[in-house]
Amino acid sequence: MKKLINRLNAFFKGVSILFHPYIYLGWLRRPLQLFLNMLSMSKWAAENRISASLNDFYSPLRDYQKRYQLYEHLLNSEQLRECALDYLEFGVSGGYSFKWWVAANVNSDSRFYGFDTFEGLPEGWGTYNRGDMAAPIPGIDDTRALFYKGLFQDTLPAFLKTDSINNRKLKIIHLDADLFSSTLFALTSLAPWLKKGDILLFDEFNVPNHEFAAFKIFSDSYYVKTKLLAAVNNYYQVAMQIV
Ligand SMILES: C[S@@+](CC[C@H](N)C(=O)[O-])C[C@H]1O[C@@H](n2cnc3c(N)ncnc32)[C@H](O)[C@@H]1O
Repeated sequence: MKKLINRLNAFFKGVSILFHPYIYLGWLRRPLQLFLNMLSMSKWAAENRISASLNDFYSPLRDYQKRYQLYEHLLNSEQLRECALDYLEFGVSGGYSFKWWVAANVNSDSRFYGFDTFEGLPEGWGTYNRGDMAAPIPGIDDTRALFYKGLFQDTLPAFLKTDSINNRKLKIIHLDADLFSSTLFALTSLAPWLKKGDILLFDEFNVPNHEFAAFKIFSDSYYVKTKLLAAVNNYYQVAMQIV
């Protein structure tokens, strides 16, 4: 029986390559991918909702300002105000979330690293085009804050070689690049540095083919286990902890 299944499997694979089905059915890839990732996301939400100490699911309307409620909640529940931390933000643009975290944490040993092209998105994302979200490097009067201008794919490997990350400190990794490729690149690059207790923040988590897909592939491939701490806007913004 096993032999027959293996033969049929090999036959169908060969035939599907031979007849170039992508020519007739290629248009189905994106909707099918979206559907599959939606299914995975609903499973993830059902499995993770219990652990969150803040969760507004289900909210009929999205209120982007709620992300600051999530940050504030995290600051109090995880006692982040005075603790020394390494905060890395991927996707800084105008620096709204970045500035919030710099102002919220008062420890002089904390460091805040912001990564962005500052020339906008390197690829289109939904209704946004390549180059959208360009902004000047934010002016921040705090020597704890440093910016790395360029593609993550260029700046992050060099940054990681500088030993800037102090593994004794708590890390907050804020993923706000919107794109699947950028989020997956940042997560996989940081995988060797992540440790128990570190916090991952996502700004567009419930977009099935982008941040969610990147997180799923990353956590499945690196056997990374997380606990949901907080979620707002129906899991659009989430905070989770490495366990
Ligand atoms: C939604 S914006 C960030 C918003 C910001 N965190 C805030 O609070 O307003 C997304 C940013 O990610 C940046 N980005 C996306 N992929 C990138 C990549 N591979 N390398 C560098 N920057 C990237 C874009 O340039 C864009 O400025």
